[in-house]
Amino acid sequence: MITLAVETSCDETALALYSREHGLIGDVLLSQTKIHQEFGGVVPELSAREHTKNLLPLFELLLKKTSFDLNKVDFISFTLTPGLILSLVVGASFAKSVAYALRKPLVPVHHLEGHIYSVFVEKPISYPFLVLIVSGGHTDLYLVKDFGKYEFLGGTLDDAVGESYDKTAKLMGFGYPGGPILDRLAKEGKPSYNLPRPMIEEQTLNMSFSGLKTAVRRIVESGNYSKEDLASSFQEAVLDVLEAKTLKAIELTGVRRLIIVGGVSANSRLRQRFKELSNNLGIELYIPHPKLSTDNAVMIAYAGLERFKRGVTAPDDINPEPNVPLETFGRIWS
Ligand code: KG4
Ligand code: ZN
Repeated sequence: MITLAVETSCDETALALYSREHGLIGDVLLSQTKIHQEFGGVVPELSAREHTKNLLPLFELLLKKTSFDLNKVDFISFTLTPGLILSLVVGASFAKSVAYALRKPLVPVHHLEGHIYSVFVEKPISYPFLVLIVSGGHTDLYLVKDFGKYEFLGGTLDDAVGESYDKTAKLMGFGYPGGPILDRLAKEGKPSYNLPRPMIEEQTLNMSFSGLKTAVRRIVESGNYSKEDLASSFQEAVLDVLEAKTLKAIELTGVRRLIIVGGVSANSRLRQRFKELSNNLGIELYIPHPKLSTDNAVMIAYAGLERFKRGVTAPDDINPEPNVPLETFGRIWS
């Protein structure tokens, strides 16, 4: 069983060919970060234009790289939601055109579902499990009972963690995306600034990160500060909150199998702290390879295969939506 997968929800144009039996056949990815850098974040219209410009050349590159006979593709997987609507539409139109030309079915994938199944690319794990999604657009805790059975436990009420990293880096005068920059910088610093840990003591699994950014702004505006120490302090504050809420979710559900996915799961300190936590408390922990943490089409292919295996395909008039909740999507498409 082989799928061609398409991912264009934000600023990465990505395609993958993936076989259920033999794993990854090949993938290609073009990041637009350099284009958005000067604007300090992703510009939606520019993102859609870049996807339109690059999809066909990337497709050609993928076919050349793999010498793959397209007729062997069984179906096309694509990201339906959530994301920048124009960017999603570009990817969906491409996926539909290829499906039409090959007379093969279409399978929709939720972007966060893709992130969840990025872990399975390396090693399928057993249900149920908890998932902490930490990306540029989402910071959520879910209980996953089976494929498509996603129970929302709590999430950020304002900024996503990746967004908070990006905004904090911007305040400190760095470019986009700020996450990897602060990750590197924090290694040279000490967590010497006293930053808030919003909602950490509350019983709810919801979180808030916008106050943290405001506290960072005050320090930056004071003019005299260590960038390394501030990066380290910011990171420890974020991780204290994520760790506390994850522990609460474990306590609440009794599920001791945890996966952490999304762009911020590439963070080296997050990996270190959660690994220590899992060793100390005997929790099963899975975090994808950093290459699979950030947006890619391999994860979309894997989730698409899981859906197709269950006999679910999409009608020809399916249309992307900017923000269908994961749990709703799971109910509709399972
Ligand atoms: O999952 P992703 O690639 O795209 C979305 O679906 O949002 O996540 C992108 C986010 C950005 O905010 C970026 O700054 C953050 O992931 N990120 C990191 C690291 N690498 C990427 N944050 C902290 N440390 C990193 N090493
Ligand atoms: Zn993502």
